[in-house]
Amino acid sequence: MTDTLNTTGTGLDAPAADIVAGLTVEEKASLTSGASFWTTQGVERAGIPAIVLTDGPHGVRLQKGSADHLGIGDSVPATCFPPAVALGSTFDPELLERVGTALGEEARAEGVGVLLGPGVNIKRSPLCGRNFEYLSEDPIISGVLGAALVNGLQSQGVGGSLKHFAANNQEHDRMSSSSDVDPRPLREIYLRGFQRVVEDAQPWTVMCSYNRLNGVYTSEDPWLLNTVLRDDWGFEGLVVSDWGAVNDRVVGLPAGLDLEMPSSDGRSAAKLLAAVADGSLDESALDVGARRVVELVQKAVDGARPSTGSGSEGYDVDAHHALAREAAGRGAVLLKNDDAILPLDASASVAVIGAFAEKPRYQGAGSSLINPTKLDNALDAITEYAGQDNVAFAAGFTTDGSDGAALVAPAVELAASKDVVVLFLGLPGSYESEGFDREDLHLPAEQLALLESVVAANPRTVVVLANGGVVELPFADDVPAILEGWLGGQAGGSAIADVLYGAVNPSGRLAETIPVKLADTPAYLNFPGDFGHVRYGEGLFVGYRWYDARDAEVRYPFGHGLSYTSFGYSDLSVAADASGLTVRVTVTNTGDRAGREVVQVYTGLAASGVQRAPREIKAFANVALEAGESREVEIAVRDEDLAYWDVRVDRWVVEPGAYSVEVGASSRDIRLSAVVEVEGEQVRIPLSLESSIAELAADPIAGPIVMQAMGSFASGMADTDIFDEGGLDKMMASFPIGKLAGFPGVPVTPEQIQQLIDLSNSQRG
Ligand code: BGC
Repeated sequence: MTDTLNTTGTGLDAPAADIVAGLTVEEKASLTSGASFWTTQGVERAGIPAIVLTDGPHGVRLQKGSADHLGIGDSVPATCFPPAVALGSTFDPELLERVGTALGEEARAEGVGVLLGPGVNIKRSPLCGRNFEYLSEDPIISGVLGAALVNGLQSQGVGGSLKHFAANNQEHDRMSSSSDVDPRPLREIYLRGFQRVVEDAQPWTVMCSYNRLNGVYTSEDPWLLNTVLRDDWGFEGLVVSDWGAVNDRVVGLPAGLDLEMPSSDGRSAAKLLAAVADGSLDESALDVGARRVVELVQKAVDGARPSTGSGSEGYDVDAHHALAREAAGRGAVLLKNDDAILPLDASASVAVIGAFAEKPRYQGAGSSLINPTKLDNALDAITEYAGQDNVAFAAGFTTDGSDGAALVAPAVELAASKDVVVLFLGLPGSYESEGFDREDLHLPAEQLALLESVVAANPRTVVVLANGGVVELPFADDVPAILEGWLGGQAGGSAIADVLYGAVNPSGRLAETIPVKLADTPAYLNFPGDFGHVRYGEGLFVGYRWYDARDAEVRYPFGHGLSYTSFGYSDLSVAADASGLTVRVTVTNTGDRAGREVVQVYTGLAASGVQRAPREIKAFANVALEAGESREVEIAVRDEDLAYWDVRVDRWVVEPGAYSVEVGASSRDIRLSAVVEVEGEQVRIPLSLESSIAELAADPIAGPIVMQAMGSFASGMADTDIFDEGGLDKMMASFPIGKLAGFPGVPVTPEQIQQLIDLSNSQRG
């Protein structure tokens, strides 16, 4: 077998194209498919070693025995950092870069060349079984945080694999379903986060998804993999298939899919060779694919420097566990905290109730399943804070579907006997996973029933949640506090105790809306589709964009999260120039303990010529402030982030106008706002006979003439109420000028209109 990364001394120093030029056509073909489940093909003769690609994303899932991509077989121990759902809620790129760096150290120590992540697909519906592996319902949040993870990872000489490209927003029928998405939502929502990561972090690889996009398998879509990814965004790396995503390898290779994984046991190489032989595939496609594989191998070999870590695994296991704890604490979101019931006083007696306190649910199922180096539970950590005498535990329910009726009474009895209850609820592992979607957003009924009895016995009940996708919270008004812990990784249990006892002041923010109920959610009537198609009928209105546009009630809004301190906002100023907006705002910690505020900047353009959400987050800052401290924060909004995708010209356009700039602590807690004039770009589409009267009227050349003609036309019309208050203007605005010219009584001929159009068009730049 060809050596993997652990062997050095290869002949890889020459430019990849030169190396490929020295290969036979068979060798080139072989390079474009894997050699095994997790390794690429090497060419020993040419000094090209194999490299290892493995999951990902929040830990290193390196399998040394049997291999699978479903989370079945064992893998070497690795730090299980919090999955993306919790990382996304940190709103902190600096922290995520540190997590990425730690992932890189572990991957490198294990001889892994590419770690398969991060996943930046948009959480289109809360039902998606894999939402725990994705960062947000918003593309800027996904993009900024995804780029930070990639930058950290790649700083260690390990490649990232940005996945799953693209529009893979459900698990149902994921290997065949076509995501049917209109151009604007595709660009503005579903591709924007990928674009951000590619442009800001240049991941070594992008992983195409299983699904089809507007009817075409992403693994063989030249528009997606070549035009958009490479030509538009400047991607310089390699595209790898999701495991088994190849449909037709001969179509996929020239479409931009460089590497098929896992191995096809030579079948794909044989097909490629046959296609070259019969002339249906140009050999240059093999050259390109093979060159990109060699370039990837060069980067991985170059990155495989000796590890500097101190632990037996080549990295510092304890330090990484501590980082996992920090990240989980920072990702937990305090949804509610009436009467400052949290943080808990260490002297209070506590009933810890709920099976998850002892046996944490800390990661999701499927290909991202990590074999953790350690595992903390909240019960032990709470006991450490409060002391053995102050803490008692009752499971209250089971998590494996077995009958837990007998567990209820002792739990309720315990609740009544203590100062405060911390009730751990959540989704059992079988409820959400890669490979299938949820059908509802409910917590198990027995947990809700338990909650009711526990609250009746002791109203001082703090609910702690463990779930990878959001759940309905029908009890939100019945309990004083809710802490959303998500899936917190291997140190999630201790991180929750850190927050409960105030060692960590919560600063997590919702990167996705918590709806009141499933039927309120944007994709509700278009999920998961049927007969192999899912129509993204809600268009641009994903997540908070939907709820805000409809002025709909939500349980907790996007961006929401409480702190044990409070923050004041003052002195907002906004300046615009060609690079975008510079937003300055002073943030003051007005409470009595240090804390972090996530300052969120939303923009809107009410007088837009195109459909828009009322507000869209464009930037944010994560600010740590001591008690009483004030700081002026400067936040840049990039010009390109103000742009919408203009379907008339098929490109990004920043529309001119008076933009609202709202700064606040959530999408529904706007503290300050300003209006800023943005110069933008006036898109001028050539006029034609199909242009509307309004379009002609807005034209600097044709406008005055048309308005004059319309004026004389209107004065000849019967005197009816409809023409008062501009009724005629409204009626005629959308009338195609070419159709109007033929009408009796209209004072212009079709020829005159054509002349006017030609004149106007000839004077355009
Ligand atoms: C998943 C990918 C994963 C791959 C390898 C696939 O089933 O969709 O996210 O990286 O398997 O395990």
